[in-house]
Amino acid sequence: MGDEQAWTEIARVGDVPEDDVIEVTVGERCLALFNLRGTYFATAGICTHAHARLAEGYLQDDIIECPLHQGLFHVPTGKAVGAPVSRDIETFPVRVEGGAILARLPG
Ligand code: FES
Repeated sequence: MGDEQAWTEIARVGDVPEDDVIEVTVGERCLALFNLRGTYFATAGICTHAHARLAEGYLQDDIIECPLHQGLFHVPTGKAVGAPVSRDIETFPVRVEGGAILARLPG
């Protein structure tokens, strides 16, 4: 039960088109929610390099390019894969329940 409480509805199915990304704010937390060929992934919404919003970046396949200095992250793992970013972005487990997209957020 305690575990269940960590799952938070962050969007509805249909809010994020396929092969696209939207920004979601949950409390103080800014997330990027991706739909990659029908599978949803949630990551931190702000780049680890400077204060840029990843949902405004350029998504190609499963790589998001930061809009500010073109750093690259692998969406499913959050791995920093292209300079100048060197720190990975946080990723959060996602599941779909009925029409809701839920993410498991710490704290
Ligand atoms: S702010 Fe994202 S690469 Fe610089």
